[in-house]
Amino acid sequence: MVTKIKNKSKAKTQKAVSVKTKRSRKKTSYKLANFRECLLGEKPITYAIDRKKIKKLELTLIPNIQFIYELALARFELRALGADFEVVNNLRSFNVLNDVDEDFLCRRLAYFENVGSRKTDYYCLQQYNITRSVNQYLTHWIYPYKGKYHPQMIRALLNIIGIKEGETVLDPFIGSGTTAVECQIFGINCIGIDVSPLCVLISKVKTESIYALDEIAKNISSVKPNKIVLNQGDIFAETEIVKIGNDRVENFFTMAEMIAHSDNSRRGKNFEKSFYENERKMIASIKDFKSAVERFNLRLGKMRIEEGDARSLNIKSNSIDGIITSPPYSIALNYVENDAHSLEALGYDLKRIKDDFIGVRGTGFKKFELYYDDMYKSIQEMHRVLKKGRYCVIVIGNVTFQGKEIDTANKIISFCRDVGFKYVKKIEKIIYGLYNVMQKEYILIFKK
Ligand SMILES: C[S@@+](CC[C@H](N)C(=O)[O-])C[C@H]1O[C@@H](n2cnc3c(N)ncnc32)[C@H](O)[C@@H]1O
Repeated sequence: MVTKIKNKSKAKTQKAVSVKTKRSRKKTSYKLANFRECLLGEKPITYAIDRKKIKKLELTLIPNIQFIYELALARFELRALGADFEVVNNLRSFNVLNDVDEDFLCRRLAYFENVGSRKTDYYCLQQYNITRSVNQYLTHWIYPYKGKYHPQMIRALLNIIGIKEGETVLDPFIGSGTTAVECQIFGINCIGIDVSPLCVLISKVKTESIYALDEIAKNISSVKPNKIVLNQGDIFAETEIVKIGNDRVENFFTMAEMIAHSDNSRRGKNFEKSFYENERKMIASIKDFKSAVERFNLRLGKMRIEEGDARSLNIKSNSIDGIITSPPYSIALNYVENDAHSLEALGYDLKRIKDDFIGVRGTGFKKFELYYDDMYKSIQEMHRVLKKGRYCVIVIGNVTFQGKEIDTANKIISFCRDVGFKYVKKIEKIIYGLYNVMQKEYILIFKK
């Protein structure tokens, strides 16, 4: 029996108490579980749970979980999926205190290795990994893109904002496609937009190659890499790749070329050797992806990945079930310069495309002004396309300019409020980079 009680007194969380129920008048031992962690603005509710009815279901965190924000997200996702819990065993295990659908938890959770004696789907999916980084499983590793966010965090956020299979999530700054892959394996449809043609290519290859695996395999021995930097409008014209006549297959081989360009210009690796090595690794990951889909009977979400501008989206108003995105962190990273080798190899004129990239336009303080103008427009667009009552998550970091930390996160909060979003939550995500340099990032959650 789980009874909702009005808890006016200061009953302490997780404290066992004796309560006389009206009906039975018998003394029953209850555990008071405080649902103050209902993240998304709902009123805290306190339930009394009959101790005798509690199934001993223990959940264990995935071993690589180490940051406070990850623990916070783990708790929030568990709550969002309907589980009440107590934390035991040095914060690494959780005892579930109410009746839950074990199978549902196993299929959806992001931060847990076990639900009772069963391994979670996500933990098993993470094992399909040809890299040494836990987060780069399946096709996530493809292309060394600077500024990727953690796939696991996206899965947890999808749970937290209550996205169901078959619904549609938008990422208007799709970058290397992290949101897209996470939605796809969750059976959630995704619209991914980016101004960079390179990002569109990466995101498409990660999510679409699975549908062209046989064709890719058929062409693998005949396609030769092409190091020639093409002229504007000449894309693929002189390469072997153009002869294939299947977009997905052509994209796959072009991607292998782009990684080789990156390896060659950043690490001085031999271009041809890198192409063949990456081609081999990419096909291995796509085969892994196919096996995982079959093993877990995954119904993949539909993907719509396209080049576009977050400041003016080609998307119907009030049509999106959730937004999860990470815009440029102010002026922190010049996405044009950073991927110059690949963008040029694709035949793009950097000077011409540069002005469409948020955070790249202008110089000095003017750059900030332009960044804020652009972000305001993007946020207006996010608000326009999102359905009422649904959530928008923005992951953003502060930058340091001329020795001063610029509070980008609070600026974004004020823009969101201004366009009509309700501010729900800010989760601090401090991470340590090389040489212990602290990077402050925030997960901001809003509701329309
Ligand atoms: C922080 S990155 C996103 C990274 C992504 N979350 C991932 O995991 O790979 C920001 C992205 O915004 C894109 N961008 C910049 N200006 C844009 C604009 N006007 N419209 C759409 N995307 C834009 C950049 O190309 C970059 O890929």
